[in-house]
Amino acid sequence: MGELKLTSAVTFMVSIQDDLREVEALMRSQADERYPDLKAAIDLLLNAGGKRIRPTLTILAGKMLKAQREPLLNLAAAIEMLHTATLVHDDLIDGSLLRRGMPTLNSRWSPGATVLTGDYLFARAANLASQTDSVPVMKLFSHTLSIIVGGELTQLFSTRCKVDRNNYYQRIFAKTASLFEMSAKSAALLCLAPDAVAEALRAYGYAVGMAFQIVDDILDYTGEQATLGKPIGSDLRQGIVTLPAIYFAEMHPEHDLTHYLVDGLCIDDQDEIERLIDSIRSSEAIERSHQEAIQFVETAIRNLNQFEPCPERLALEELAHHVVDRRF
Ligand code: IPE
Ligand code: IPE
Ligand code: MG
Ligand code: MG
Repeated sequence: MGELKLTSAVTFMVSIQDDLREVEALMRSQADERYPDLKAAIDLLLNAGGKRIRPTLTILAGKMLKAQREPLLNLAAAIEMLHTATLVHDDLIDGSLLRRGMPTLNSRWSPGATVLTGDYLFARAANLASQTDSVPVMKLFSHTLSIIVGGELTQLFSTRCKVDRNNYYQRIFAKTASLFEMSAKSAALLCLAPDAVAEALRAYGYAVGMAFQIVDDILDYTGEQATLGKPIGSDLRQGIVTLPAIYFAEMHPEHDLTHYLVDGLCIDDQDEIERLIDSIRSSEAIERSHQEAIQFVETAIRNLNQFEPCPERLALEELAHHVVDRRF
């Protein structure tokens, strides 16, 4: 099966392979036989794989706190299903044609069918979350979903093509770090852990999520489509200014295209955009962004200090390091 092929080499995931397989089965069980097209779409999405980093985080945090297995796996499946639903809608909004190395739903289906599939996945994610029987988990689930949607709305409506550092951090928190926060904190809520434990895990998830999105934004410049399974260079082409472009504008005011980024002017000429993407890719702005991601990872790991050393804590540390070392 495709889903574990991307992850099998990563050591922190080895100890929870059986748990991840059950999460996979729980997600598949959410498809409704009455709608064969929907079921086919869900199978296709799940077969395409993905890194499964969020459910991994939830399972490791839950095991560290000695959570009950069944609700923990339902929670992990709910989070990955919520993530998958946001990707279905995100690719439609972004007009992306490739995801996890496969054609996206929006590249094959009408917008209507794509929206409905995403809605269905959201509903089934909520169903999985409700299987935990935890009201605090359900509250955090709905709160996180509204933050993610808010982030996508901000990205859709905020000024394009312009360097804006504060707006960048707000956006990446909303669209990515908020779900990482939830992935870690919800494991504590499930166990009715003390507030300080929930807070430490929230802070860990937040920092890992911020690092994860910064690296995603770097890989949009430096990665390869074949490894990433999604298009490269698409952020700036869509007018989305991420950290590498922000550092580039700060470090290279003399570049003849920098003023476009500073003034918030979108570049129409395709050759000019490609030239700017190349300049950013080969500049020190990439390394500077990477350093910032590493700082977030260090913060994440500091938040684990209050937990007794154990295999799960070690794995959570490895996961944080992996986020900045990854190539996909
Ligand atoms: C993609 O997330 C969306 C972002 C937040 C960057 P992942 O990179 O975790 O995607 P999959 O699940 O591995 O495909
Ligand atoms: C996706 O953000 C985040 C959500 C789905 C909320 P991006 O648009 O940056 O993710 P990719 O690059 O398409 O994976
Ligand atoms: Mg996208
Ligand atoms: Mg991206």
